[in-house]
Formats: sequence, structure tokens, C-alpha cells
Amino acid sequence: MKLLVTGGAGFIGSAFVRRRLAATDDEIVVLDKLTYSGNRANLAAVEGDTRLSARFAFVRGDIADAGLVEPLVGAADAVINFAAESHVDRSILDAQAFRHTGVIGVHVLLEAVRHAPRPVRFVQVSTDEVYGALEQGLSREGDPLAPRSPYAAAKAAGELLVESYHITHGLDTVVTRGANTYGPHQHPEKLIPLFITNAIDDQQLPLYGDGLQQRDWLFVDDHADGVGHVLDSGLAGEAYNLTASEPRTNRQVTEAILAGLAKPWSLVRSVPDRPGHDRRYAMDGSKAAALGWQPLIGFDDGLRRTLDWYTANSDWWRALKSDEWDAYYRRQYEERLANSVGA
Ligand code: NAD
Ligand code: TYD
Repeated sequence: MKLLVTGGAGFIGSAFVRRRLAATDDEIVVLDKLTYSGNRANLAAVEGDTRLSARFAFVRGDIADAGLVEPLVGAADAVINFAAESHVDRSILDAQAFRHTGVIGVHVLLEAVRHAPRPVRFVQVSTDEVYGALEQGLSREGDPLAPRSPYAAAKAAGELLVESYHITHGLDTVVTRGANTYGPHQHPEKLIPLFITNAIDDQQLPLYGDGLQQRDWLFVDDHADGVGHVLDSGLAGEAYNLTASEPRTNRQVTEAILAGLAKPWSLVRSVPDRPGHDRRYAMDGSKAAALGWQPLIGFDDGLRRTLDWYTANSDWWRALKSDEWDAYYRRQYEERLANSVGA
């Protein structure tokens, strides 16, 4: 197949590209804007390998640029849309880019698929956060969407557009809703890489609120392969939860990181909570399991691999913790850390 992978220079998209090129004969074009979180270095293993690079091309650009998108979509058998602004905290500081990419960008892609000269399958990579917070039980694919952060609202809006184009225009669409993902190549703004890299440097770890919020932690290779499985086997018009069934509170995750790096708990600071902080996400994974997909990497194994990768690749993350990073870090954490207490 010829695949157009949008957002393919990001954390999960680049894992998909690396793994799909290695496992299949597919040809892949990546379209990526290279925002602060997009990173061409994530594709170095592909671009530096002649066996893989012969079936790979990179285009820098915006999914909301219709003139750029139309010919790329027209030449593809499938579009896999990973492109998004992906960090909840940034969506609280300023949601403009979330609307641009998550709503307008998705719409531009769907219009290009609609007008393509031949059928194109469209895979929308979405998130468990569209269900909103769940006190108990598991979210199922038919549950109503109830997003609570600007990030989750933009993702839900994108999904609704996708569904509407399936129903109204008969587009061949599928949606994946992945759990919280971690692993190598994740931008250090997210919980696990932030705490790993801060701990390596003996910097404080800002734990929001009581730290008892719960997430289901999915290793990045499993998430990437789950998206590939839905691309290959998902039924048109359907959504699929991609779960790990590895629930952990943020305190438990923090304890595991510190234990793995042999660093003290005294680095952890309890800081004022994120506004509207979702207490818990948890999904039922039986629909994707019935399709033949299941995660293979448990949390302990995945975290060990992640700790090892960040320890061995400090050049990669130190480059991201510079320039724009300092202003972001001050804005997000300076006052919080000033008001922090021991955790
Ligand atoms: P990421 O921030 O690492 O990557 C996003 C990529 O999209 C970057 O390479 C960025 O440059 C690109 N991009 C952003 N706006 C663009 C635009 N307008 N045009 C073209 N490219 C653009 O994010 P990620 O963690 O890899 O997430 C990928 C997808 O998976 C997102 O859609 C996200 O909502 C979803 N998801 C993420 C998680 C998670 O825990 N990280 C969990 C479930 C679902
Ligand atoms: P994050 O990685 O931002 O993912 P999401 O908000 O999409 O789940 O955060 C994971 C959890 O960690 C979430 O409950 C918020 C919490 N968190 C902190 O306690 N401190 C931090 O500095 C960050 C970034 C997150």
C-alpha cells in the first residue's frame, strides 16, 4: 500500500513509520509541520537505512493546507492521521493551535479524501480522553463523547467530523482511541519523560494535586501496531479502543521511575493541580481484541526500556529542553513550584 502518514515525525507517528516500513512492503510519505514537538531525528533510523528510505519520503507542511494536501492524499491508498497538538497543559495555556490542527486540519484531510480520484481509507488516531473522566468502570466505543479539556474537545471534534464524512459521504474511515502512551522519542513535556529527564538531572518533579489520578499506560510500539492493525482490519465507520490494561496512579508511576533510576522521593513536589484535571481514564479493549490485536509489552518491561532509552539518548532530549522550552517551563511550572510542598 501507499500510505500518507500525517504527524509522522512525532512520538507515536514515527514509531508507526519505523515499524511499518520494517514489517511490510508499504511505501510511506510523511507529511509533518515539524512543530515544537515534531522532530525529524525521530525518522533518522529510516532515512539513514537505504533499504527503508527507498520506500519513504518526507514532506514538511500543514495538514490544514488544502493545496498541499490534495495531491498527497490523491496518490495514497490510505491516510493515517497522527497530526495533532498533543499536550493537555498547552491546550489550557492556549487552545488556538489545537483548533487549527484538530478541527480545521482534519476537515481539510477529509475533503481531500472525499475528492480523491480513487477510494482512500482514512484512519483517525484519537484518544481515550474523548470519553472524559470516569470514576469507575470502563469506557466502551459506543459511549457518548464527553471531553473536558480543550485538547480532548479538539480530538472529539475531529472524530465527529470523521464520523459525519463516513455517514454523509460514504468515506471509508476508522478511528482508534489509544490509552496514555509512553516510550522512547516522547517529547519531554509529558509526565513520564519529564519526570525521567528531570530526575536524571536531579531536578524537582512537579506532581499535580494529590497524584492519585489514574491512567492506563500503553507502550508506544503496541500503540503503533494497534493503529496498523485497525488500518488493515478495522470495519469502516467503527472506532476501536487501544488499551494496555496497566492502570497506575501518577504516584505509582513516579515511584517506579525513581526506583528505576535510583533517585530519592525527595525530588517530588506536590504542586497546585491542573484545572479540570481528569481523575481517571479506563477503557474496555474487547472490541480491538476481537479484531485480533492485543498489547504485548507490560508496564514494567516498557518502563525499563524507556528509562534505558532516555539514559542513553540525552542528546535527543537535551536538544528539546532548550530554546522554546525554557519559556514554556517557566510559564507552566515556576509559580506552581514556588507554591509546592513535599509530596
Ligand atoms: P506528538 O506531539 O509527539 O506528535 C504530533 C506530530 O504532529 C508532530 O510531529 C507535529 O509536528 C505534527 N503536527 C502538529 N500539527 C500539525 C499540522 N497542522 N500539520 C502537520 N503536522 C502537524 O504527539 P503523539 O503523542 O505522537 O500523538 C500522536 C497522535 O496520537 C495525536 O493525534 C494524539 O492525539 C494521539 N494520542 C496520543 C496519546 C499519547 O499519550 N501521546 C494517546 C492517545 C492518542
Ligand atoms: P500527561 O503526560 O500530560 O498526559 P494526559 O494529561 O494526556 O493524561 O499527564 C499524565 C498525568 O500526569 C496526568 O494526570 C497529569 C499528570 N502530570 C503531573 O502530575 N505533572 C506533570 O508535570 C505533568 C506533565 C503531568
